[in-house]
Amino acid sequence: MSSIPTGKISVTHLCDVSPLTPEDVTIILDRALFFKTALQNKNVPQTLNGKVILTLFTENSTRTRNSFEMAALRLGARLLNWDEKISSAKKGETFSDTLRYLNGYRPDAIVMRHHEYNAPNYVAGLVDCPVINAGDSYREHPTQALLDAFTIRECKGKIEGLTVAIIGDLAHSRVANSDVSLLTKMGATIHLIAPVHLQPQKIPDGVKIFDTIEDGLVGCDVVITLRIQKERMDASAIPNDVAYFYAYGLTQERLALAKPDAIVMHPGPMNRGVEIADDVADDPKQSVIFQQGANGVPVRMAVLDLLVSV
Ligand code: NCD
Repeated sequence: MSSIPTGKISVTHLCDVSPLTPEDVTIILDRALFFKTALQNKNVPQTLNGKVILTLFTENSTRTRNSFEMAALRLGARLLNWDEKISSAKKGETFSDTLRYLNGYRPDAIVMRHHEYNAPNYVAGLVDCPVINAGDSYREHPTQALLDAFTIRECKGKIEGLTVAIIGDLAHSRVANSDVSLLTKMGATIHLIAPVHLQPQKIPDGVKIFDTIEDGLVGCDVVITLRIQKERMDASAIPNDVAYFYAYGLTQERLALAKPDAIVMHPGPMNRGVEIADDVADDPKQSVIFQQGANGVPVRMAVLDLLVSV
């Protein structure tokens, strides 16, 4: 593929997975594949030349923030970072006033991670540029779901018809929420696996829930493990790490219950010895965890390109 694939998506912001159609998802994944090849060939078209992207993160981030920044820089954009710790939020300014001032500087897009539920949709209603959600509260993390879908398609050649297990802290995971929404939209069957106290309140239609890993992993093509989101729980609800690993840790023995060619994924950061054993995380045949992480760059390039280079 030598020129950028054509096609537009039907949304102007990316705050949630739900407004994306399956066609939108395919356009994003195809464009991400184009950018992945362009990165390898060192001939990335500078489609965001002259654009300035504002990043606004109120929660810790390594992969999401750095891969968004790398994606923007690779496309020729420049970045401006709003740093909460040294901002006027510390002087009592409301978040809405801050955003109205920042909007007045006319950024070409805002990439934001915020601890408050639905903050990106609130910001999208205040500003004149596209807003891209880099994770809000335990609600949504749409670009993580897109890079997970990209990685599954890359490794398995398709998404439709596959069975994907998601194991762990489903109650507090924005990754799980967005993955379930996106992967079911693309025709996958989902097995959710968690102890009862970490299960989501609502189980989406067609999704199967299991409280033992042994039952849930049988026949799966993809196994996604998740970190326990201790920062979103009362101390009393935090499971003991050793007991958790004993009951829900992804070990080689348990992985053997999935299909022999099942791939292992994790959005990161991994807590080795808690939700995943070292030898599973580093399994040369089945673990695609670092490939998944690297795919964050071309997938976020595709999202930025589709929303900002217009
Ligand atoms: C996830 C997040 O922040 O939601 N990490 C990520 O973006 N790659 C998952 C987590 O923090 O456990």
